[in-house]
Amino acid sequence: MGLHNPPEVPMELHRQNRTNLVNAMRRHLQSEGLPVNGVVLLQGGEEQTRYCTDHAILFRQESYFAYLFGVREPGFFGAIDISTEKAFLFSPRLSEEYAIWLGTIPSLSYLKEKYEVDEIYYTDQMESILRSLAIGNENVLLYLLHGLNTDSNKFSQPATFEGLKTFNTNLEILHPILTECRVIKSDLELNLLRYVSEVSSAAHVEVMRRTRVEMKEYQLESMFLNYTYMYGGCRHCSYTCICATGENSSVLHYGHAAAPNDRTLKDGDMALLDMGAEYHFYGSDITCSFPVNGKFTNDQKMVYNAVLSAHKAVISAMKPGVSWVDMHKLAEKVILESLKDANILLGAVEQMMEKRLGAVFMPHGLGHFLGLDTHDPGGYLEGLERPKEPGLRSLRTVRVLREGMVITVEPGCYFIGATLIPAMENSDTSCFINKQAISTFQDFGGVRIESDVIVTGDGCENLTNCPRETWEIEAVMNGEPWPLKR
Ligand code: GLY
Repeated sequence: MGLHNPPEVPMELHRQNRTNLVNAMRRHLQSEGLPVNGVVLLQGGEEQTRYCTDHAILFRQESYFAYLFGVREPGFFGAIDISTEKAFLFSPRLSEEYAIWLGTIPSLSYLKEKYEVDEIYYTDQMESILRSLAIGNENVLLYLLHGLNTDSNKFSQPATFEGLKTFNTNLEILHPILTECRVIKSDLELNLLRYVSEVSSAAHVEVMRRTRVEMKEYQLESMFLNYTYMYGGCRHCSYTCICATGENSSVLHYGHAAAPNDRTLKDGDMALLDMGAEYHFYGSDITCSFPVNGKFTNDQKMVYNAVLSAHKAVISAMKPGVSWVDMHKLAEKVILESLKDANILLGAVEQMMEKRLGAVFMPHGLGHFLGLDTHDPGGYLEGLERPKEPGLRSLRTVRVLREGMVITVEPGCYFIGATLIPAMENSDTSCFINKQAISTFQDFGGVRIESDVIVTGDGCENLTNCPRETWEIEAVMNGEPWPLKR
């Protein structure tokens, strides 16, 4: 175990992101016959304290703001003048109390150099600076971020400040354009995603190797957190760790406050560990599934290999031009074929697909964009509609793949009462299910295998490097190094 080598975080990455946005805004305004000027204005995140104490919750920057400016501190605004491409930051004016409790107050010149923007002022100067960007006698038009996130169903909050009412504002144009910029990653963004995936993969291997029967699920979580922070410098995770064992591994987002990774691992359990670190805002999202005692049973091997075959089939087929909906269906088909080969399902797989039986075993979507957010936005731009059918309606994107997209590939097969019982009661689907055979899987839980994948010019690149074959997992759990030396 050694230190990973955290990459430099060049502010060039955020400068490039701003240039992408300005170019895309100019193209759009030109194509609509609108004046190619105005100012993009974003408000960064605010630090939150708990109601009954002054302890601050560790601040993590708002993602759109982080994409454009890379600023780590709370309370900032950022602006970009579309006609000149000049970038402005507006810093909160910090009180003397700050210097006592939180450290030296950074000067504006320090912040300007740190974040490589053209100009920096205090937030209380923002109104007059923005006004000075007017061309001629025109009032400045501010493009503000307002749009629906199709996963959370929440709207982003447009920037707000005293005096905003005296400006012209546009709430429609910026969000789809900036979101689309985030969908295609630059080489500098990919470097960070590569790094965080490398650290998270190594942390998964470490946890896999040190897992023992009778441990608590939270000990696996704690080993992951320790590794990614101690050896990778990753202070944040992309999401709350899902450390599910036994029947818990069929709970898709286990690990939340009401199910806090607190079960004791039993001999014969499968573990499903879905955990990813974050580095300079960019995240990873990796799932490994393995038997906690280090040796697959025949049933575990069958379900695991069904999911692994789907994972491999999708990664072999991914390239620009391929529809993500088709990839989801491919994964479902491979899993259904394997369950049929194991005599758990009966009948023709094509008919099972027509009746959407795949959604009974994999109720979530095959994967989602990944970047500054675990579920990175942009999955339903271009006027795309969310499908209505079971399984497909859980897809976080239905887009056609393009070079530079980063997406998770995470097929799964779960034995979930909440989907299986209705399917066995429904006359459309009950005929496919071998009730006797499936009864032995009642407490099995589930398997998910998840990798983070870049779409390249002619295929894809898998950033995740974890043992995936059953024999690789058994060897690593038996103490062999990873990658295997044999
Ligand atoms: N892997 C966690 C999630 O996708 O929400």
